[in-house]
Amino acid sequence: MLRPHTLMLAGGALAAALALGAAAATPGPAPVADAKGALHVPAGYQKAYEYLGSWSVAGDSGAGAKEMHTVYASPGATAAFKRTGHFPDGTVLVKEVRSATTASMTTGTVSHSTDLKGWFVAVRDSKNTHPGNPLWGDGWGWSWFDAGKPMRTTSTDYHKDCFGCHQPAKATDWMYTPGYPTLQH
Ligand code: HEC
Repeated sequence: MLRPHTLMLAGGALAAALALGAAAATPGPAPVADAKGALHVPAGYQKAYEYLGSWSVAGDSGAGAKEMHTVYASPGATAAFKRTGHFPDGTVLVKEVRSATTASMTTGTVSHSTDLKGWFVAVRDSKNTHPGNPLWGDGWGWSWFDAGKPMRTTSTDYHKDCFGCHQPAKATDWMYTPGYPTLQH
């Protein structure tokens, strides 16, 4: 015999299943932009995203790196890029920026990552869907986030904050994709 609380439990399970169904109907990872185009750093990207590659920025003097950059892409981005040579709309790239320190180790002179400085986040948007937002344009949404503040960007205008430095990557949709072994065949 079904007692009232068993029925309530069953109802709850049904509601949960419906909610899961609704979530499953939304393709891809959780969006990183709100309706106005404000971006945030996707939670758990280190596990949920695909590792693209790393950059080591050499120190101004002496051996070793002063910064390490680790770049991740939203699920499916690598396979799609290999197929078409471009990231599909909605692809999210996260570049994690860390300080680095250098020491003599048994493998040689070695740098390793230390403190998190923050993140660059870019979202592919070839249709330029936020024409009035100064952080969107040229096929991407663009933002920087200081460490500890993954929900609120300090960027105000991608032309000023990003675009000048990405000019050399014009031929590859403004991103430095030739630097990622995982994207090459
Ligand atoms: C000082 C120059 C500079 C500025 C400013 C800059 N970038 Fe970059 N960005 C680069 C370079 C160079 C790379 C690749 C090498 C590296 O990480 O050192 C890169 C890499 C990236 C990557 C990883 C994908 C790729 O292109 O390889 C993302 C994402 C990114 N930048 C987003 C942004 C966003 C968003 C902004 C503005 C908020 C921005 N960048 C501002 C120079 C810059």
